[in-house]
Amino acid sequence: MRPKLLQHGRLPPALESRLAQAYDVHPLWAETDPWGFLSERGRDFTALTTNAIFGAGEDLIAALPSLQLISSLGVGLDKIDLEAARKRGIAVGYTPDVLNDCVADTAFALLIDVARRISAGDRFVRRGEWPNRPFPLSTRVSGKRIGLVGMGRIGRVIARRGAGFDMPVRYHSRRPAADVPYQHVESLVALAQWADFLVIATAGGPETHHLINAEVLDALGPNGYLINIARGSVVDEPALVDALQSGRIAGAGLDVFANEPHVPEALLGLDNVVLLPHVASATEETRQAMGELFLENLTSYFSSGQPKASALE
Ligand code: 8YV
Repeated sequence: MRPKLLQHGRLPPALESRLAQAYDVHPLWAETDPWGFLSERGRDFTALTTNAIFGAGEDLIAALPSLQLISSLGVGLDKIDLEAARKRGIAVGYTPDVLNDCVADTAFALLIDVARRISAGDRFVRRGEWPNRPFPLSTRVSGKRIGLVGMGRIGRVIARRGAGFDMPVRYHSRRPAADVPYQHVESLVALAQWADFLVIATAGGPETHHLINAEVLDALGPNGYLINIARGSVVDEPALVDALQSGRIAGAGLDVFANEPHVPEALLGLDNVVLLPHVASATEETRQAMGELFLENLTSYFSSGQPKASALE
């Protein structure tokens, strides 16, 4: 008897077909009345598949009384009610580490792009403006100071990439990390005052909601840049828009937003902002690796009672 899985939200097609080969999968996203379906059939499912964007809220978990495992494609856990899962003894699998490099690469792509105005220069040439005037000078990257907000798996990889550009690194996090060579800065405002580039690499969720506010942005200042490859919820987005429009910060490189896929209209016309559609982990290689780990979490749970990568201590 193949375990019955409820699929919350679409997965990459290749992953969906591999899932269907091994499990009895029901696509919740195909139900016209999902909550009506769950009230009748919710107890049938022992596992729930999701991703870091769809997550698994308390209400969905409560509608699945036989649930034993949540397997999520992604490293972000801010949309999964871990406390509700823990109370019910539900295991939670996710896909950390395999995406660190691509997310860190994207942080640097945004950092270099916004400082050296790569995308702006491309638009300048395509608009046919080069024959009329030289492109304005931009800002040097090598040797400048990186302030990391968060020193977790991805923050550490970003910090290492900074060394490659001779960039001093300091960081702010709730607690100093014992095993990194960088200076911990107790105050986020002080870190922003020190940094040329403030790079957000912290988890989303209630504890970091609007952590980057107007005070932090003013501390970063008119020569500072904000880079966000974490979660849009970490930034007070209206305060960021205001700081960018008024020149209180020099620019921003953003892969995530408060209300994806909707991006504030005011950002779309700004030449000192680089905008990406939440693609930091979206390479063939990394999504393949994430899919393999996602499937391993399921096979590991059904053979040993634990996912390979557990989100619960
Ligand atoms: C993807 C992410 O958007 O892993 C995360 O937390 O935000 C990204 O890798 C997510 O995995 C959905 O596929």
